[in-house]
Amino acid sequence: MTNDTASAWDRFSEEYQRRSALPTDSAHYGPDIPTESTFRLLGDLKGKRVLELGCGGAQCSIAFAKAGAAAIGVDTSPAQLAFAQQLCSASEVKVELRHADMAELAFLRADSVDVAFSAYAFQYVEDLSRVFRQVHRVLKIGSPLVFSLPHPSWWMIAEDQPDPTIGHSYFERQPSSVVWEGVDFTVYRHSFSDLYGALTRASYRVDVILEPAPVSSSPRSWMWNDAMEFVPRTLIVRARKEGN
Ligand SMILES: C[S@@+](CC[C@H](N)C(=O)[O-])C[C@H]1O[C@@H](n2cnc3c(N)ncnc32)[C@H](O)[C@@H]1O
Repeated sequence: MTNDTASAWDRFSEEYQRRSALPTDSAHYGPDIPTESTFRLLGDLKGKRVLELGCGGAQCSIAFAKAGAAAIGVDTSPAQLAFAQQLCSASEVKVELRHADMAELAFLRADSVDVAFSAYAFQYVEDLSRVFRQVHRVLKIGSPLVFSLPHPSWWMIAEDQPDPTIGHSYFERQPSSVVWEGVDFTVYRHSFSDLYGALTRASYRVDVILEPAPVSSSPRSWMWNDAMEFVPRTLIVRARKEGN
């Protein structure tokens, strides 16, 4: 994590939460695709300890708490966490919110987490191997890490063009800059081979990969782009912790 990422999210948080108006009844995986109520990757959460990495406004953690889990949300942006705190109170659920980097989980005991989850936060992290190792330490054996992030193919799309257009090489590996409302975010392109390699090296077994097509219903989210009809916007991965 860079402090820049946290401060960029501090500046964009209010606008992001206003535009996204994310649900708290089921965990979401990304813009304009079905939610956990369709994909069912997490299993029955009743009585489970669930860790959310990059929880933002904690909408997913609230959904986990509503499903009977003890939810822990971790984020580096104080503004996102302040929104999360308010939303938890308004939703009348308890989520343990932690101001922490997802690569530093020393506050959690080894083998104490039943499910680790992250929606659209890993693209802000350069060294995902470190995150995978930290999460591996805290997960119980056989338990899943489920995450979504921008699909590697999506990085090729020139989002500022009116028609679906390839604007970047798949092989470009340097970080990109994304600017929303004048706030500049640095994002990292994690390819399939990087993700698979980092997960297997950290002793996970990948058991699900999803590349969902967009839902047909409108209205579209604020992140909608017509290229999403042609190229997957979101990649979802489930990987299970193998032995140490
Ligand atoms: C696009 S938002 C997604 C938030 C939430 N998961 C959602 O779907 O609305 C990305 C979040 O990741 C957080 N984040 C980025 N890097 C992080 C890191 N290294 N550790 C913890 N949180 C991080 C940001 O502060 C931001 O709240």
